[in-house]
Amino acid sequence: MGRYRIHVTTGAWLFSGSFNRVQLWLVGERGEAELELQLRPARGQDLGPLQFVKLRKHHSLVDDAWFCDRITVQGPGALEEAAFPCYRWVQGKGVLTLPEGTARLAGENTLDKFQKHREKELKERQLIYCWDTWHEGLPLTMAVDSGKDLPPDMKFHSGKKLDYEWRVKTGALEVALKYVYNFLKSWDSLEDFDQIFWGLKSTLCGSPALEDDELFGYQFLNGTNPMMLRRSTSLPSRLVLPSGMEELRAQLEKELQNGSLFEADYILLDGIAANVIQGRKQYLAAPLVMLKMEPSGKLLPMVIQIQPPNASYPTPPLFLPSDPPLAWLLAKTWVRSSDLQIHQFQYHVLNTHMLAEVIAVATMRCLPGLHPVFKLLIPHTRYTMEVNAGLRGELNSESGIFSQAVSTGGGPHVHLLRRAMAKLTYRSLCPPEHLADRGLLGIPSTWKGSSPLLPGDDIVRGDPELQAWCREITEVGLCQAQDRGFPVSFQSRAQLCHFLTMCIFTCTAQHAAVNFSQHDWLFWVPNAPCTMRMPSPTTKEDVTMATLMGSLPDVWQSCLQMLFVRQVSRKQPDMVPLGYHTEEYFSGPEPKAVLRQFQADLDNLEREIMARNEQLDIPYEYLKPSCLENSITI
Ligand SMILES: [Fe+2]
Repeated sequence: MGRYRIHVTTGAWLFSGSFNRVQLWLVGERGEAELELQLRPARGQDLGPLQFVKLRKHHSLVDDAWFCDRITVQGPGALEEAAFPCYRWVQGKGVLTLPEGTARLAGENTLDKFQKHREKELKERQLIYCWDTWHEGLPLTMAVDSGKDLPPDMKFHSGKKLDYEWRVKTGALEVALKYVYNFLKSWDSLEDFDQIFWGLKSTLCGSPALEDDELFGYQFLNGTNPMMLRRSTSLPSRLVLPSGMEELRAQLEKELQNGSLFEADYILLDGIAANVIQGRKQYLAAPLVMLKMEPSGKLLPMVIQIQPPNASYPTPPLFLPSDPPLAWLLAKTWVRSSDLQIHQFQYHVLNTHMLAEVIAVATMRCLPGLHPVFKLLIPHTRYTMEVNAGLRGELNSESGIFSQAVSTGGGPHVHLLRRAMAKLTYRSLCPPEHLADRGLLGIPSTWKGSSPLLPGDDIVRGDPELQAWCREITEVGLCQAQDRGFPVSFQSRAQLCHFLTMCIFTCTAQHAAVNFSQHDWLFWVPNAPCTMRMPSPTTKEDVTMATLMGSLPDVWQSCLQMLFVRQVSRKQPDMVPLGYHTEEYFSGPEPKAVLRQFQADLDNLEREIMARNEQLDIPYEYLKPSCLENSITI
């Protein structure tokens, strides 16, 4: 019998190694090596092509967990190297079985051992990864009370954990210092916000973002929430134009005829009762903004209606750029505050974080490690469960930032999330369709994913694991979302590619665009007030600086907003850019070539974006591939 050369790789971060002894043995097509306490099979046995590696960690007093990356086995003789991906913690006294890394479908198996392995693996995982209802009417979550209860493989690695805890402590200290420093200072003009505007600043932060109409309009396309804008196809029914506004009507109709009229409608917030913070009622509105696009591409606001008509106010006031400056500024501030609520809960929390968790839990429950879709998706789920468990804890907490500083925090956010969930269609998650539905797309799309790693139509249709995964996402995780266009089965490879592209886009580019842009646009509080402390104005003439400052967040709320924004939009210390994960779940040269091609495409895209940015007054950096995290990690 020949000699086997075995290479074992441990995770590269602090505490991933172990002092415990590890036993390993090999399983081949023609036999299994006897269990020995040495890293080799029994002598005299011809194992044939290797199928599995088995691991057992021994300990006497301390079970020192070991994070095993992968194991490769070379030999005997000239046989090609076989790789056995692991990428998980080895703990306890059980035996861990790692199949050879070639992607295999359930229907393809002629070898019963692989079939048995995948069935056993799924059975075990379904006991560990269970669904829970956080709130009725919202996507299901992983069943844990906090991040501490998660399976070890879903938790932060040591460096990330230390960094996270350190940032929370230093952030709390910074907020306390700012608050004490400002305790006896004035808080009666916009400049007073500069008193707490410490530390790392973006050049985009600051009063021009709000005061300049061009920058106000710019944010609907390039800010932290580019999801609201639609090209108008008619004048919105809620826009009641009273007599005396004939000139405005004519301007709106002219822009409509030209196809250059746009709108952003925050009606989702209408009727939601706002938070009460330390006994003080906060206020919400549901504004409508009409904008025109000039031939130069500038998007400029034309009119703002802060609240929709109701029985008490059948003709709510319309605010115009020609109004007294403070009245117009206050109207824009109401839009920006409403935008923050919708951005945070609909487009950030629900459409990226919660959806990514559904994908992650369904993947763990339905797809065995041998499945190509598992191998493709698992790097895009890193840290998401722990991030979301922490997010839910923060949202539930009465002393948390949302309860203490945000007008939809402390309970109203659940109503907002439910309304947003009712609007969550499959099309709204796929940029070409969503942009087309909003009248913002006039060019052919390059969105559709394609991967030579995925099987053909017949195999897709007949793959029970893949079909179960699809149903698990749509019917279970998203609570019967088939009526909103989510598939309950995959009938073709193209349909599967489209769905997987949506999954990966959500976990990477979409989250990056709405998350890492926050520091630029939300750090200067008046440009995105976390709450409004006075009711929206019903007249224009009485608006003073006292009205504006009395409406904007107070010092404490502003400090909390800045802390939150800095924490979540900071580049993460162990950031993995899209497509550059180091885990090798796939075996063989073909998947490696596909990944290399993907990386080359991303590099080309990076260069294209950089060249385009050089021509722009304000570069758009958030979708540069090098800035996209491979998963939702914050
Ligand atoms: Fe996030």
